[in-house]
Amino acid sequence: MALLIINANEVVTLASEKKEPRIKEEMAEINVLQDVAVLVAEGEIVEIAPLEQLKSDYAALVESAEVIDAKGQIVLPGFVDAHTHLVHGGTRENEFNMRLNGATYMEIMNAGGGIHYTTTKTREASFDELYDKTYVHLNTFLKHGITTVEAKSGYGLDWETEYKQLTVAKRLQETHAIDVVSTFMGAHAVPKEYKENSDKFVDIVIEEMLPKVAELGLAEFNDVFCEHGVFTPEQSRRILLAGKALGLTPKIHADEIEPYEGAELAAEVGAISAEHLLVASDEGIRRMAEAGTIAVLLPGTAFFLRAPFARGRLMVDSGVPVAISTDFNPGSSPTISLPFIQNLACLNMGMTMEEVITATTINAAYAINRGDEVGSLEAGKKADIVILNVPNYKQMQYFYGMNHTHTVIKGGQVVVK
Ligand code: NIG
Ligand code: FE
Repeated sequence: MALLIINANEVVTLASEKKEPRIKEEMAEINVLQDVAVLVAEGEIVEIAPLEQLKSDYAALVESAEVIDAKGQIVLPGFVDAHTHLVHGGTRENEFNMRLNGATYMEIMNAGGGIHYTTTKTREASFDELYDKTYVHLNTFLKHGITTVEAKSGYGLDWETEYKQLTVAKRLQETHAIDVVSTFMGAHAVPKEYKENSDKFVDIVIEEMLPKVAELGLAEFNDVFCEHGVFTPEQSRRILLAGKALGLTPKIHADEIEPYEGAELAAEVGAISAEHLLVASDEGIRRMAEAGTIAVLLPGTAFFLRAPFARGRLMVDSGVPVAISTDFNPGSSPTISLPFIQNLACLNMGMTMEEVITATTINAAYAINRGDEVGSLEAGKKADIVILNVPNYKQMQYFYGMNHTHTVIKGGQVVVK
């Protein structure tokens, strides 16, 4: 069935000659069209052009198309969330209250809470319980205009549970409208059983878990939490290089709580992205720009942990391709509201409205190796489209803290209306 979106005030296409992540001033070039219609068929974008032109060039398709009237609204590519800890058991509102009473995130984790608490809950949950819970979360992502989600494992810290998380994500990729892209993150924390011997756990990740993930095709990416008291840069390097040798592309949780040369390591191992980077060094930023490593910034985490925000402005100006995502997880960022995250990026990372749109569409798509398929509205790309109930793109951020999503089209199908 063909679709024809007409009367939109603006169509923000993000189209460009450049088939790579956008950097520097390219990040502000979002390509806003007026007086055009969007024609979709067989799940793909056919053409974006003035309606009269579409009528003459594609008469039969236009004739048969379902018409969506976007009067007073704007059209954008479906948003891409390139960093989530999607599949997990339980919630951690009690720890939030502990933090409000003065405890820190790392204190709670080192005392056996935090990631360890969620690990216990995820180990206890059945496949079906995790599946049902995550299905509901994915519905909420869609309602916020997100049409592709990355999902990290890492609340198992043993093979059985990592496998369960990854297969839940895989099943949801098959059953839910959203596209789910998997990352293995067996090295998300040192399990309590290996507290005194973290190298042993690193060996298990490398020798036992990574080969199975690769063999079973359960993930495309391999991530590690490189942080003081979690995994050292040396351990992280071993894990990332071992995954790379098996065909898993490196990603890294870098310089989130304390500086640890994580950005530098990302550049060194050829990671597709370094994520968080709240306290990344000047040198790390320079090396990321040089290597073309994408910065996946997660301002919701800085907000919720009351930590300093990543230096997004400096990264853009330095030539690092910047993406922005939710980090949806039960501890440091329990939100699915990408609109709110976009707003935080504008107000607390010094990024412009246009840069933030690029960071949550095409650059986020590149951060999970989907830049050729989604993230912009161009002929031949997947018809992942959102219609927002604002008259111009600047009002997306101006009316802050609100979800303006009106209609969501995924692969040519209307999934939210
Ligand atoms: O991205 N830093 C490590 N991982 C997550 C938090 C996980 C959790 O607290 O459950 C993050 O912030
Ligand atoms: Fe994270």
